[in-house]
Amino acid sequence: TTPRKFFVGGNWKMNGSTKSIQSLVDTLNKANLPVEQVDVVVAPPAPYLALVRSTLDSKLGVSAQNVYAAKSGAFTGETSPLFLQDLDVHWTLTGHSERRQYFRESSEYVAEKTKFALDQGLSVIACIGESLIERETGATNTVLASQLEPLAAALTPADWARVVLAYEPVWAIGTGKVATPAQAQDAHKYIRAWLAKHVSPAVAQATRVIYGGSVTAGNSGELARMADIDGFLVGGASLKPEFTQIVKARL
Ligand code: G3P
Repeated sequence: TTPRKFFVGGNWKMNGSTKSIQSLVDTLNKANLPVEQVDVVVAPPAPYLALVRSTLDSKLGVSAQNVYAAKSGAFTGETSPLFLQDLDVHWTLTGHSERRQYFRESSEYVAEKTKFALDQGLSVIACIGESLIERETGATNTVLASQLEPLAAALTPADWARVVLAYEPVWAIGTGKVATPAQAQDAHKYIRAWLAKHVSPAVAQATRVIYGGSVTAGNSGELARMADIDGFLVGGASLKPEFTQIVKARL
C-alpha cells in the first residue's frame, strides 16, 4: 500500500451544454463518492467552471483545462489563474497533449504556466506523454525526461506538493487503445525514478503519478493495482455514469 492518496480526474474536454453538465453534476452529487480515500477533480470547459463550482458538492474538486501565465491585462481570450481563484476553482491542467499538439505548447511554456499557476496558489495536474512514433522508436523515456526537465527546472521542491503528474501516452488518448498495466507501470516507474534523481527521493515518493488514455470502468481495476499508478485522468468515460466506478477502482 502507498501513502499517496488515490486521485481521479475527469477531463471533460470541449464537450457538454448547460443541460448535460447540470445532469452530470447531479449524478456526481448523488454518487456518494468515497472522498476520504480518493481525491476527485473534474475539469469542465472554461465557460461552465462557475456553474459547476457553484452546484457541485464542495468535497469534489474543480479544475480548469488550461490557464494563462499572467494575472490580467491585454491577453484576449485567455484565462487568468486569478479568475479561477475568484471562482473557488483551485486546480488547472497544464500541458495536455491536445494543447501541445493543436496549440503548439512547448514543454518550456508548459513549465512556465505550471509555475505561474502554482505561484498564484493553484494546484496543477501537469500532463506528459509520448506519441505512437516515439514509443515505436524506443524514445518513450527520452521524451518523458525532456518534458519533465523544464518542469523540474521551474519548480521548487515545495511546489511539487501541489502537483499531480498525468502520464498520458498520446496513442492511448481517445483511441480505445489503453496502455497495458505493464506498459503504464513501466512509464510511471521511470517518471518516479526520474523525480528521485532530479528533484528528490521525498518528492518522488509523495507525488501522485496518474494514468490517462482510454481508461474505462472495465480496465481501471487492473491498472489501479500497479505499484506506481496513483489514479487516473479520464476523458471520454468521465462524461458517463461509469466514472463513479473508475473513482472506486482501488477500493
Ligand atoms: O485527459 C484525459 C484524456 O486525454 C484521456 O482521454 O478519452 O482517452 O479517456 P480518453
